[in-house]
Amino acid sequence: MRPGLILAACGLAAGAALFAFAGQNGLWLAGAMAVVLLAGAAMMGARSTQTEVAAQSVVAHAGGSVPAPPPVLRDVLEQLPDPLMLLDQGGRVAFANAAMRAVVGTDAERKHVSAVLRTPSVLQAIDQTTFTNEPATVEFVFHVPVERHYLAYVARTAHSPELTTVLLHDLTALKRAEQARADFIANASHELRTPLAAVAGFIDTLRGHARDDEAARTKFLEIMNLEAQRMRRLIDDLLSLTRIEQNEHVPPSGEVEIEDVVRDAAATLGALAEADNVTVAIEAAAGLPEVAGERDELIQVFQNLIHNAIKYGKTGGHVWITLSTSPSVYGRRGSTMVRISIRDDGEGIPREAIPRLTERFYRVDVKRSRERGGTGLGLAIVKHIINRHQGRLVVESRLGEGSTFTVLLPARAPALSAPVTEVI
Ligand SMILES: Nc1ncnc2c1ncn2[C@@H]1O[C@H](COP(=O)(O)OP(=O)(O)O)[C@@H](O)[C@H]1O
Ligand SMILES: [Mg+2]
Repeated sequence: MRPGLILAACGLAAGAALFAFAGQNGLWLAGAMAVVLLAGAAMMGARSTQTEVAAQSVVAHAGGSVPAPPPVLRDVLEQLPDPLMLLDQGGRVAFANAAMRAVVGTDAERKHVSAVLRTPSVLQAIDQTTFTNEPATVEFVFHVPVERHYLAYVARTAHSPELTTVLLHDLTALKRAEQARADFIANASHELRTPLAAVAGFIDTLRGHARDDEAARTKFLEIMNLEAQRMRRLIDDLLSLTRIEQNEHVPPSGEVEIEDVVRDAAATLGALAEADNVTVAIEAAAGLPEVAGERDELIQVFQNLIHNAIKYGKTGGHVWITLSTSPSVYGRRGSTMVRISIRDDGEGIPREAIPRLTERFYRVDVKRSRERGGTGLGLAIVKHIINRHQGRLVVESRLGEGSTFTVLLPARAPALSAPVTEVI
């Protein structure tokens, strides 16, 4: 109330001075001025009273020396998605929101901060802010139970200097993305370096002791040609992957007859199947609905899957492709999925490898994949294209018996004019 009283006193003094100076008229002026100043004083008084009430509720809420935010503020802070806690002057936790309790434990309140957050760099930042009143930020990592990266902001507000705010910002997803990007570049460089080193080595040999050896020259040029093709395939796959990733959020605009697409994809692999003496059989249910999709991308999906079935299947074996419809896996009433299964009778895939198949550069048997001209990117491309088409990829395999890769794609919604039968 003190600033308010001073204002009121000033108002009255000014009024008195004006009255002395201007007589009767000055009285009104002084009165009006005093009212304005008193109103201002009342407002200031009210504000400081509110602050006191808030402070009291802070104290009362926590039932003692540990202050806590008033209920309304508590509700707001509780719902913040970022972990936040308030510390009292002694460094004890006055309040921790739900997100913070998930990080430091549900029983954090009233404990000393060093008992709930045992990271020296954060504790140091809290000490520093308590001491200097200056905000501080610090990055830190929790290694268990799973690695999580955070940025901690520590600050004190001018209004309640007895409280220190600790706000955490979860950087885990960002760090993982950074790591994935770095791994990807390292893997891609490594994949390119291997054939490049082979080509460079053969160039040296051809310049050196094999210069006049006709037979060696023919053989080495053949290998160099294979390595150059491998580099080209790798670059093509990398470019496809980038392009598809960029478009992944854009729904496909075309309409495709899926049976056509699958037959075209299988036809381009006819020579490869013949070379391995593999029989490819296609069986399609009648009247398959159209699929909303990009023809070129879907051709790539089925080429990759049929190619894998041929090259990782049995020499002299079979690849069975079946097309049918099935109810939506999303459970939307009346919506249909087109189901395309590619089954081989190869050696199968170990159970623990199945979840990793669509990772870039992942191969169950690196040597075998390289021998067969693989880049390790085929299924990563398949996954991204299927995601863009809002479809699903299901992999089933039994060691020694074979694998089945099933693609589910949503059928295009029937045209409005088409007859609809619905059982209600
Ligand atoms: N039909 C299959 N049978 C057995 N293993 C398979 C099959 N399809 C894919 N794989 C395994 O998955 C890995 C990744 O496949 P992919 O991404 O197409 O790469 P690539 O064919 O270039 O090696 C392959 O290296 C192989 O180990
Ligand atoms: Mg492949």
